[in-house]
Amino acid sequence: MAITVIGGGAMGCLWAARLGLAGEENLWVVEKDAERYAAIAEQGAISFHGAAKETRKIPVRVVRQIAELPFSALDGVILAAKAYQVDDVLAMLLPLLDEKTPVLCLANGAGFGGESLLNLWRQQGRTTEYLSKLGQVFFAVSFQGAYLARPGEVFARGEGAVYWGSLPSTSRGYVVNEVSKNKLESVLSAVPGCVYQENFVVELWRKLLVNSVINPLTALWQVTNGGLTAEKLSEEQRSVKNALLQEGLAVAAAYGSRVLGRDDFLSPTAVGAVLEETIAATAENYSSMYQDMAYGRKTEIDFINGYLIHWGERLGVATPCQRQVYEQILALTKETGLLP
Ligand code: PAF
Repeated sequence: MAITVIGGGAMGCLWAARLGLAGEENLWVVEKDAERYAAIAEQGAISFHGAAKETRKIPVRVVRQIAELPFSALDGVILAAKAYQVDDVLAMLLPLLDEKTPVLCLANGAGFGGESLLNLWRQQGRTTEYLSKLGQVFFAVSFQGAYLARPGEVFARGEGAVYWGSLPSTSRGYVVNEVSKNKLESVLSAVPGCVYQENFVVELWRKLLVNSVINPLTALWQVTNGGLTAEKLSEEQRSVKNALLQEGLAVAAAYGSRVLGRDDFLSPTAVGAVLEETIAATAENYSSMYQDMAYGRKTEIDFINGYLIHWGERLGVATPCQRQVYEQILALTKETGLLP
């Protein structure tokens, strides 16, 4: 099958490698950054260091632009772009793709792939024409850590699960494209750790809450994920970590009951357990927000803590601690001349 991974960063390289190890031989990577593109093009491969410290070269073809892809032959697209890039890429990509070709979005956080994407098409007067294309878009949350040591060379850091599925479409008026879903299922069934979830919105929120604690705190306190284990934190840090989680859970509960009509949306104990499991499983990893800030890149804060603050405001749930870390990250990114 011909599979494309859009984005040659840590997650994109990890996915290209995992697909290659699962037997996919016709892999394409789209990477617009000149240095990353050149590194992948030169080796004609991704260098992958797995959890068992083995090193593999996974052959891939790399292009700079989406327009250079072999669209007629494509069987699936893995979109490993950052949360703030997803809608722009989807708005451009979906009109070029056959409706039977699935697109799996891997970005952290939430708030993309729906209303904001439709707004981009609305500006072009194309919403009616393109709406059904949302039915070939799927989402995944990944509990696997990845570290890009240098362009084209990735280390797997943590072997957690990847849950995938689609988001409720009731308010948007499209149906899941079953052919596309089956194609994606057959690709992902060969990739270890990938699990389809009928009720994906639960997984999305669970992971959102995990990221809302790990990502800003590792970036602010300059630690690896493992640095957030209770024993390594001061009492004050433990209370910030706990307050972030409790506020996120309160927003999730209000969202579950008032937006989705579900009173049993997320179990606080289960989310707390997943948070600690993720910290332990990816202990050596530097979170993506830590890495983004260390390399002077824009962060996904607006789609993680910013998303929770936004829903907190809409649903009347106070989120002072979420806001505090959000503003601290903004202040730091402004100091270094970055946008949030
Ligand atoms: O954003 C990240 O870094 C990842 O989602 C995770 C799972 C927290 C691992 O670092």
